[in-house]
Amino acid sequence: MNEYDPIDLLFGGMEKLGPGGDEYTLDVLRGLHEKKFETIVDAGSGTGRQTITLARELGSVVHAVDSHWPFLDDLRRRASEAGVGHLVVTHRMDMVEIPRVFRDIDLLWSEGAAYNIGFGNALRTWAPAMKPGGSIVVSEMTLLMEDAPGGVREYLDYVYPAIKTIERNLAEADSAGLRAVDTYTLPRESWVEDYYDVLGPRAEKLIDHPDSSVREMAAETIREIEVFKSSGHSYGYVFYVFERVV
Ligand SMILES: C[S@@+](CC[C@H](N)C(=O)[O-])C[C@H]1O[C@@H](n2cnc3c(N)ncnc32)[C@H](O)[C@@H]1O
Repeated sequence: MNEYDPIDLLFGGMEKLGPGGDEYTLDVLRGLHEKKFETIVDAGSGTGRQTITLARELGSVVHAVDSHWPFLDDLRRRASEAGVGHLVVTHRMDMVEIPRVFRDIDLLWSEGAAYNIGFGNALRTWAPAMKPGGSIVVSEMTLLMEDAPGGVREYLDYVYPAIKTIERNLAEADSAGLRAVDTYTLPRESWVEDYYDVLGPRAEKLIDHPDSSVREMAAETIREIEVFKSSGHSYGYVFYVFERVV
């Protein structure tokens, strides 16, 4: 671990790098119409909580794509420990490159990562790499109420100005040639258990770190968690299930 890398210090070794959980991944996966998938890609896999869940449940190879190699190292170790090392192939690459590397994808999964290249852009980029009828499942931070409390709205405008309502995200998918099948809003406890309840204490400990970039990221994390607590149900994480139009 690099003692001055804010990402390593805050997120290193964490199983969950965003809101979610195995039970929600499985709920959404088991609700898909199609049950057999040949080519499966997990975009922005991180340390691979959901990659391992997908591999274990489907008994098929899952290609984990992430740009941060320490997360992929961690994923390989975790997958071996979970007995699915032979079902996980890691690719250190940018997720915008997915159509260059993969063709005829049956299932493209992405939890809490598409926002890095923009939700609509991610869908438009990935759709041509999908097999007709193939499924794209993406979780995305989403505005659940138009009239979020003042401080919350200001915070969202600052950290994620591109945040949209479910309706507007569905319109993005439509323009990418994807048919919306379902949406599923994650419960608030999925943000807290094994995520904010690990990240919060870590951030508190790093607030006086000698490196300014670490102090800044720790302060931003503490602010993020405070805003979440005061946000009611004004924003949340939503799973979107799409199919490429045949
Ligand atoms: C919030 S984490 C989510 C990780 C994991 N899906 C989870 O829910 O625990 C976002 C992940 O996207 C990766 N990432 C960010 N930008 C990327 C890009 N352009 N291409 C590939 N991976 C990227 C990060 O390294 C990180 O692992």
